[in-house]
Amino acid sequence: MTSPNDARPTFVILGASGDLTYRLLMPAVFRLFLAGKWQSPVLGYAPDDWSPKIFLDRVEEGLREFVHEFDEEKWREFKEQLDYQAGELSARDLGAVAQKLQDQSAIFYLALPPALFGQAAQALADAQLNRAANGFRRLVVEKPFGHDLASAESLREALHQGWSEDQIYRIDHFLGKETAQNLLVFRLTNRFLASIWDAEHIRSVQITYGETLGLEGRWRYYDQAGALRDMLQNHLMQLFTLVAMDPPAVWASEALHNHKTEVLRAVRPISGSTLDASAVRGQYTAGRVGSSEVLGYRQEPHIPVDSRTETFAALKLKVDNWRWRGTPFYLRSGKRLAEDYAEVAIELREVPRGLFGEGLKNWLVFRMKPDERIDMLVWAKDPGLTLKTRSRVLSTPYRRRDEMEYSAYEQLLLAVVQGDRTPFPRYDEVEEAWRVVDPVLTAWKTGQPDPYASGSQGPETQDRLMENGDVWRRLGETDGLDSSS
Ligand code: BG6
Repeated sequence: MTSPNDARPTFVILGASGDLTYRLLMPAVFRLFLAGKWQSPVLGYAPDDWSPKIFLDRVEEGLREFVHEFDEEKWREFKEQLDYQAGELSARDLGAVAQKLQDQSAIFYLALPPALFGQAAQALADAQLNRAANGFRRLVVEKPFGHDLASAESLREALHQGWSEDQIYRIDHFLGKETAQNLLVFRLTNRFLASIWDAEHIRSVQITYGETLGLEGRWRYYDQAGALRDMLQNHLMQLFTLVAMDPPAVWASEALHNHKTEVLRAVRPISGSTLDASAVRGQYTAGRVGSSEVLGYRQEPHIPVDSRTETFAALKLKVDNWRWRGTPFYLRSGKRLAEDYAEVAIELREVPRGLFGEGLKNWLVFRMKPDERIDMLVWAKDPGLTLKTRSRVLSTPYRRRDEMEYSAYEQLLLAVVQGDRTPFPRYDEVEEAWRVVDPVLTAWKTGQPDPYASGSQGPETQDRLMENGDVWRRLGETDGLDSSS
């Protein structure tokens, strides 16, 4: 059923007095508004006994701080669409929201601690806010989707009590990044890649997300989570599926998610006997990042001195299907590393016979940080009198400087409003990703992470994942772009 209101559903934020709302959500909404892409009214909801005016003041403060293009006139226009309602996560209090919405289309964004997701979804359903006579109702949740396979399943059950899967939009913000979207578009649009996208031609894939940042005050969450849950189970596994999935026959959400789930199902289980060769964990010690001396993880405020939480995790995935048998996928992410550096790097096998030299490999690299671009490392003749080779990098940024940059949140919020489910993981993807990491989490309940100095490349033990002479790329790798281009 559609109604005129479908194009501008009310965007209800549960947890509207929290940090996420001011730092991320409202700045993203306002930037979309500035770009002429957002028309929806916003209704803030939280237990704080605020007037709409207090809510507006908080939003304005956040926008002035986080939106560079803040514009007074546009703000006056925008704030006309903002409202606030105080209330608890109970069906009774949410009745006031039902009254305001009047059976029109609405989106409920849970900007709440994950422990409250189930309760919030249930209270919304009990207040009959999960359906509308004159439009649609959608529910948006953000990771973490559980902290292991069993809790992910419980969360699914709690959400599904009142909401169907196609009403639920799970935000994994990496899927709103240009790189994630380009992995699909570049891969599935360029004919020359189609015939080489398999184990016969691709020797390995390395997905790296290195950060110089440490805890940033998030100790309460992070010490419970660790790098495997925080980055690999969701963000990096999603990038992996975009590289490894079979192309869907049509551009349709269900087809895409079927293919993503299928490749996740083909990931070989990591078991006790393969664990050491498939998973590495590390924890940073004191060191120097850039020009600053930083503390080790166990010396950080609030962190137990014997914490075994990993701040670095690496996995090697094997995919048992026709396309990928024989190609290892290496995934890693860590805090307090040498560089803010992230990429999806695809290594091609050498030509069968090296007429002009040995060991000349091609790389196709989707760079995420420090800048977003695609690089291809190729070999060409060295100019001059001999047939010597030298590497060249064919490189293109995703975006020209004069083109608008949309954040991952902006991309994803707009997709929710438009009902485009393609960039949101379906439950079975989440479940399969937990299936892969669950045995590792269990094994890591004992033992210790390997120490690495802050500002380094991570623990040396990460090398034990490498097979057949593969070598980790360095954080900060340029593939010679600066010198040869
Ligand atoms: C978040 C993690 O999901 O992603 C953080 O919780 C991490 O620990 C962040 O720093 C990285 O994403 P981005 O887009 O901020 O680089």
